[in-house]
Amino acid sequence: MSALSAFQFLPERASDIGRSVDFIFYALIVVCGLVAAGICLAILFFCFRYRRGSPAAREHHHGTSWKLEVGWTSVTFLAFLGIFIWGGVVYFHMSKPPSDAVEIHVIGKQWMWKTQHPNGRREINELHLLLGQPVKLIMTSQDVIHSYFIPVFRTKQDVLPGRYTVQWFTPTKPGTYHLFCAEYCGTDHSRMIGSVQVLEPANYARWLAEQQPAESMVAAGARLFTARGCSGCHTPNAAIRAPLLNGIYNKPVALATGAVVIADEQYIHDSILLPQKDITAGYAPVMPTFQGVLSEEEVMQLVAYIKSLTDEKGAAR
Ligand code: CUA
Repeated sequence: MSALSAFQFLPERASDIGRSVDFIFYALIVVCGLVAAGICLAILFFCFRYRRGSPAAREHHHGTSWKLEVGWTSVTFLAFLGIFIWGGVVYFHMSKPPSDAVEIHVIGKQWMWKTQHPNGRREINELHLLLGQPVKLIMTSQDVIHSYFIPVFRTKQDVLPGRYTVQWFTPTKPGTYHLFCAEYCGTDHSRMIGSVQVLEPANYARWLAEQQPAESMVAAGARLFTARGCSGCHTPNAAIRAPLLNGIYNKPVALATGAVVIADEQYIHDSILLPQKDITAGYAPVMPTFQGVLSEEEVMQLVAYIKSLTDEKGAAR
């Protein structure tokens, strides 16, 4: 591996998932290389053997061999199936963040990355991370499609308006790395770049405390919950009957249509901006939309607050 990194064949690697991704990549290169070499050698061999004027026998003609047909068909089929399953295993691992991952919120807009940490600390075109701490990025866009790409982590995920997408990784090497927008998003797409800093625990703690007192995501959400009038309906004694939100996160919700959905981040997001989309069974479709009223950032804060509401806490603290 050290000989390979000396050539800078691939960018530096600074995440645990990167190892699996690189391994697949190298394996594919080796397989493709061997097949290409085999074909080239066969071409050269036949060119030489059956060149004009060579005494090689040309009249002998092989009949079809079903053993050969079945052989090469099944071997290549199984090889491709193996690569597919291997890639699938890594892909599923990459799309399932661990439960202890720190949740960092990312908003893409023309042409910058706005990031907010759970304690409220914000940054633009930067991302500070703790070495060895799994991170889950919850991302959305305020305008067009962007893509959040950190080459050293070998992770890339499109960032879409109106939708939450997620990527996760565990940084394994301190340092400063590149961050790119990897989806053409307009004039200054090429400038929608930034840096990722992976810090040792002491440096990270210092960085996190620099910008105090910040209002945490949950506290900002709680403030909005009252200020925007959510608490006027989503509380036990409200005049208008609305679903209580305590402990709702990641639980099944029965809809008026009879369908059952899981109240994930996307569901909560849509319930705020598109309240008529999924009406909870037994409730009237009276909630106004907050589209154009709340920014994506505020919706993220509300989602963080609603996620924090466990069964024991009051709806509007
Ligand atoms: Cu954002 Cu390209």
